[in-house]
Amino acid sequence: MSVRDVEDSLGLKVCKKQALVIDRGAGVWVWDVSGEKFLDFTAGWGVTCLGHSHPLILSAIQEQSARIIQNPNSGFTYSPARAELMIELQKVLPAGLSRMFFANSGAEANDAALKLARKITGRSKVVSLMGSFHGRTLATLSVSGGPQNGARYLPRVPGQEFSPYNNCDDLDLVIDNTVAAVIVELIQGEGGVRRLDLAFVKHLRSLCDRHECLLIIDEVQTGFCRTGRFFASEYYDVAPDMLTMGKGIAGGLPFAALVMTEKLASAVELGDHGGTYCGNPLSCAVAAQVTRFLRKHNVAAHVAALGDVALNDLRQLKAAYPDVVKDVRGLGLMLAIELHHDSQVWPLSDECQRAGLLVTPTRNAVVRLLPSLLLTKEEWSAGLERLNHALAAFVAGCERNTPALVCGQN
Ligand SMILES: Cc1ncc(COP(=O)(O)O)c(C=O)c1O
Repeated sequence: MSVRDVEDSLGLKVCKKQALVIDRGAGVWVWDVSGEKFLDFTAGWGVTCLGHSHPLILSAIQEQSARIIQNPNSGFTYSPARAELMIELQKVLPAGLSRMFFANSGAEANDAALKLARKITGRSKVVSLMGSFHGRTLATLSVSGGPQNGARYLPRVPGQEFSPYNNCDDLDLVIDNTVAAVIVELIQGEGGVRRLDLAFVKHLRSLCDRHECLLIIDEVQTGFCRTGRFFASEYYDVAPDMLTMGKGIAGGLPFAALVMTEKLASAVELGDHGGTYCGNPLSCAVAAQVTRFLRKHNVAAHVAALGDVALNDLRQLKAAYPDVVKDVRGLGLMLAIELHHDSQVWPLSDECQRAGLLVTPTRNAVVRLLPSLLLTKEEWSAGLERLNHALAAFVAGCERNTPALVCGQN
């Protein structure tokens, strides 16, 4: 019986469209159980920033797990691995964000930010943006703006307001002195790689200052060099009160962090936040190595340069397939191909898979590319060739089935 048969018999085949059974990975490549090789432009939802099975991560896991994985009474005891991570993070964090809380996922870090914002401000209202995504806990879904998110699990946590992104006038209406916090992604990832305008973010900062509410910047997807800076906040030159991070932070281990200013942290008391695995030595040791590697090798500069090349190539692809590709955009190696219609996203992603390339189907008619940050120019070109091949096959398939129509538009 194959792995797939076992999964099917247990009802585990959650997503019929991409029933790949992945066996192993190395760098930007993964292999399924039958030995077929794929170029991975998903990095596991943007997590494996150094690629799969990077030797640095393997040795950090090996070394730390031989010492200790989980502390006794963790939270009341500390570890050198945790201290090392804090030192490394201090070298890359935006100025003023010196106090750190660790978590196991991006949602958990955001949840902690929202919870502590209530305690710090004594208010409960939260403003977030339409199209945003902040995680899948009840509180983070409640502030996530797509119809597929919080609306599935109504009612949301009370005291939530959504504002359209890049609309300063609406912000003026929703932000007042009852708001505890505003939470935003500077580039909406799940919403289709949509960037906030500089003027909008500056306006948001000034409103938060005026009404003494907290600005939480969610860099779970954009952080750790993904956009060509260590944090996307650097493009905006705006200081958040809290910043959350996850995904790439530990190169594949489930780990995340919430950082805040000293002033805010002074209102947080022992027991206000914590969790069994938060800041465990194993994840801290790996995160410290990943953070140091990204900084020492100036991976952000590589990502920015390769991202420019990639976006330029994607523009040519758009020109070659105008009936399928409506827009291409991105920053660094957070790239989006927007199609003319939502229903084209899965068929094109399937075509990519057949061409040996894994991409991430995304909301709002977008196919996202989030490859490893160590992707080389040659690997990018190999991916582009597969993408080209997939688009050609997609168009040919459409013409065969519905001549003169582009697939999925009706
Ligand atoms: C911007 C953003 N915030 C939060 C999350 C949730 O992170 P996690 O899936 O680690 O809980 C995600 C996940 O995609 C994200 O993109």
